[in-house]
Amino acid sequence: MAVTYELIKTCRQTGARLGRLHTPHGVIDTPTFMPVGTQATVKGMSPEELKDLGAQIILSNTYHLFLRPGHELVKEAGGLHRFMNWDRPILTDSGGFQVFSLSEMRKITEEGVAFRSHINGDKMSLTPESATHVQNALGADIMMAFDECPPFPADYEYVKQSTERTSRWAERCLRAHQRPGDQALFGIVQGGMHKDLRKKSAKDLTSLDFPGYSIGGLSVGEPKALMYEVLEETVPLLPGSKPRYLMGVGSPDALIEGSIRGIDMFDCVLPTRIARNGTLMTSQGRMVVRNAKYTGDFGPLDPECSCYACRSYSRAYIRHLVKADEMFGLRLTTIHNLHFLVNLMHEVRQAIREDRLADFRDQFFEKYGMAEN
Ligand code: GUN
Ligand code: ZN
Repeated sequence: MAVTYELIKTCRQTGARLGRLHTPHGVIDTPTFMPVGTQATVKGMSPEELKDLGAQIILSNTYHLFLRPGHELVKEAGGLHRFMNWDRPILTDSGGFQVFSLSEMRKITEEGVAFRSHINGDKMSLTPESATHVQNALGADIMMAFDECPPFPADYEYVKQSTERTSRWAERCLRAHQRPGDQALFGIVQGGMHKDLRKKSAKDLTSLDFPGYSIGGLSVGEPKALMYEVLEETVPLLPGSKPRYLMGVGSPDALIEGSIRGIDMFDCVLPTRIARNGTLMTSQGRMVVRNAKYTGDFGPLDPECSCYACRSYSRAYIRHLVKADEMFGLRLTTIHNLHFLVNLMHEVRQAIREDRLADFRDQFFEKYGMAEN
């Protein structure tokens, strides 16, 4: 078995799950946050730095690696782990999301998606079979079925057709999968914001018996309260013995609220993306280090943080680096934000272990402030 989920306990205060995910490249403590390494690198970070801040698994993207440098080259290098020198678990997304957000002139048919490369405009396509083939070549521990993430808002009839097609595609992915022994293929539940479509999607996918389930189609512009509602309707439809992954969600409040609703895995570009324009997640909320008020501030980014950046450098110095467009500044802000979320999940797990995740949430929000959206 490529991946097995071990449930350790559920929080008596919230029902959140403490678990372990066993993979060919090691164990992941869940709930977990996965840093995003879109192009076979977490921007600016070496694998050693990722390990030092506690990352146990990273995510990479089929769409990008398929376009450049090509999955055949990665396979020739010995697979993605060897290619990028990361020996811990990797999860690859299927391209079913990136193709919709990045490429131009995409055309969806029953067969798959035809599109033009965002790099050079070449005509390309991805199908359930080819996305699975590419992910088999990359060799990630966990791979995703090829899906469509409908936009928000979208009309009911469109989401219905799309969701049913995603179920048919999921079945084709399973059939095309060449390495079920050492790569776990997760199905992705869609259905937009519609309860009955989520139900149908979950039913279709669970009948196919995937080793894990992702929840897609969320954090696409809907209010957070609606996302939590959809989660509450969807998670109970998934088997308790399998891992559950909420795709593309990584704001601190959503990591806590998602864990409370039974999610085990999260990923998001948010911490690394905002780090590159000088925005930090701290125990006191978001902080824009470019702000003039930090000019002569020789304290750490976050006094409660133990990351490399906070142990060694001041707000004044990091502000200077970011304003001067120095690469090292972006590396330090990235290290801090990733450490912040990885450490937050550590605290979430500890709170589950001690049956006090609801108390932890209240304490966290009191200091961090409430969510933006
Ligand atoms: N990343 C964020 N949302 C999604 C989704 O709905 N599908 C896929 N494949 N990836 C995602
Ligand atoms: Zn820090």
